[in-house]
Amino acid sequence: AGIEFADPALAEAILDEMARVEELLHSAVRSDFPFVTETALHLVEAGGKRFRALLTLLSAQFGTDGIGEDVVKAAAVVELIHLATLYHDDVMDEATMRRGAASANARWNNTVAILTGDYLFAHASALVADLGTDAGRIMSRTFAELVTGQMRETTGPAGDEDPVEHYLQVIAGKTGSLIATSARFGGMFSGAKEDHVAALERFGAVIGAAFQISDDIIDIASASEESGKTPGTDLREGIRTLPVLHALAQDGPTADRLRVLLAGPVTDDALVAEALGLLRDSSGMVTARATLADYAERARAELAVLPSCPARESLEKLTDFVVERTT
Ligand code: FPP
Ligand code: MG
Ligand code: MG
Repeated sequence: AGIEFADPALAEAILDEMARVEELLHSAVRSDFPFVTETALHLVEAGGKRFRALLTLLSAQFGTDGIGEDVVKAAAVVELIHLATLYHDDVMDEATMRRGAASANARWNNTVAILTGDYLFAHASALVADLGTDAGRIMSRTFAELVTGQMRETTGPAGDEDPVEHYLQVIAGKTGSLIATSARFGGMFSGAKEDHVAALERFGAVIGAAFQISDDIIDIASASEESGKTPGTDLREGIRTLPVLHALAQDGPTADRLRVLLAGPVTDDALVAEALGLLRDSSGMVTARATLADYAERARAELAVLPSCPARESLEKLTDFVVERTT
């Protein structure tokens, strides 16, 4: 969806591999208990960009071994872990909509959503076991970073902490870590050179953070028909994302009114709409977009050590996509 490849032959190869990933995602979640299969397939089948799996497959183009069984498994692992966190995230964010459909917690309840997330995580772990102890160690570290980022978001910044620095740390953890590992796995399981694997991982960390910034801009800027989610979910939860932090740092009547509206979680629909309206026209959006462009530029720069080829060009296009999806 909106992601372009640099070359038709590469596009065909990647789509082919993605079909194998898709098959593995479906077979991995099948349970003897049909209800679990149903709740697990709920998000697997809700669509989604498969951004993390795609990054693994593209990164595997830099190895000498190409895309074998391990690369496909690694791509399925990162996508399953991502899906598992979404089940839990929608509980924590009290979100009722995801990918244009009811979230699992809204369709069933919190217990079902939490257990389904755990179930996907269990199956991701089984696949990781096939990939060996190095993969297991990397995955456990990645997962700890992800959960810590989420915990930082939950606690908010400490009194003496710069809120923007805190935000950047949150997104590096909750989003950057898994996307970095998605890229690293692609390089690692295709036999890429160590310095290329390291560059891919750094690229993933930066584009992952950019991806979260764009997500946070979309939460304010887009209608739910475009995003598949309810706009203003972050505001309702009292979570201050980058555009909000920059808007609040201004002087003037807009910032003053926002400070009143956003003193805590905003529950009233009319007040959420008012805050969204003020934020959309605020300089906070302009500043957040500038930060996004800066991250995209830094992501691109990490690709410089990689050989120039259609896969590298595709990764460059991926950075353009992350910026352009907000406009
Ligand atoms: C989406 O952010 C959420 C994340 C990137 C990570 C959430 C992490 C956890 C729930 C850790 C626990 C998970 C497990 C399986 C133990 P968002 O809420 O900003 O994005 P959204 O707009 O897509 O909801
Ligand atoms: Mg959320
Ligand atoms: Mg969240």
